[in-house]
Amino acid sequence: MLELLYSISPPAGGLAVGRSSKDFFNFMVKVDKSNQRVQRMFGQIASNYDRMNHLLSMNVDRYWRWRTVRKVSPSGDAPILDICTGTGDLAFAYCRKAGGRVPVFSADFTREMLQIGEKKKRRKSIYQNVRFIEADAQQLPFDDDTFQIVSVSFGLRNISDTDRGLREMARVCQPGGKVAVLEFSKPGWQPFKAFYDFYMNRILPKIGQFFAKNEEEAYSYLPESVSEFPDGQRLVDRMHGNGLINGRYYPLTGGIATLYVAEKPA
Ligand SMILES: C[S@@+](CC[C@H](N)C(=O)[O-])C[C@H]1O[C@@H](n2cnc3c(N)ncnc32)[C@H](O)[C@@H]1O
Repeated sequence: MLELLYSISPPAGGLAVGRSSKDFFNFMVKVDKSNQRVQRMFGQIASNYDRMNHLLSMNVDRYWRWRTVRKVSPSGDAPILDICTGTGDLAFAYCRKAGGRVPVFSADFTREMLQIGEKKKRRKSIYQNVRFIEADAQQLPFDDDTFQIVSVSFGLRNISDTDRGLREMARVCQPGGKVAVLEFSKPGWQPFKAFYDFYMNRILPKIGQFFAKNEEEAYSYLPESVSEFPDGQRLVDRMHGNGLINGRYYPLTGGIATLYVAEKPA
């Protein structure tokens, strides 16, 4: 959640690379989703990330991860991979769900986020099978067909090449295994949408600006980041276009977030 406040602000140097764009003062300004920028951003907010996440989502993010591990449950002994794992909350949820018996690999390319995850790991012995790995989601250091589940929560939108990220998830997933994507989406029901827009546009950036010790400026660009990322069937279609089948999606909390589930052909 917190990343929304930052990933959407215009780059310090003006022009940038990436896929998102906005007609800004009649110029096409692109949001910088380069690895360096994303790493720098998350490196800066890592120490506050968990606290802000829970605050800004009013703790609903915990419920979303809980739903994810229930819907896409581990079975058997094959390992699980969580990419863009950040401080590891979804990886820990998978570890708990599997009773600590299954190896869970937790991959991210921002070292500061992984370091917080390592600290959290040390607090509970059940997490000893969680292993943090520094890796780019677009180039995963794992063999084909390795994991029973490959998951990502609130990370796919930050990967500069969404399709490449999805292809890598599919590649390392076992045939017949599952890919789970938890991501923000747009609520459909109008009265709720009005409240959501108000919160996203007016409230959340102010709370974020007030609390986060981040040099980057929170920006009104926030809602656009969510609104321009594919959701619902469009994201399912992207999953299907990148080696996955039988995609389904489950809107959560009025559609603020959506869980996408697809399979790798057996
Ligand atoms: C919003 S955080 C999500 C963290 C965590 N999954 C959660 O649910 O709270 C996004 C994470 O994606 C990571 N990330 C973005 N692009 C990445 C890439 N190409 N490779 C690896 N990690 C990436 C960032 O470093 C950051 O930790």
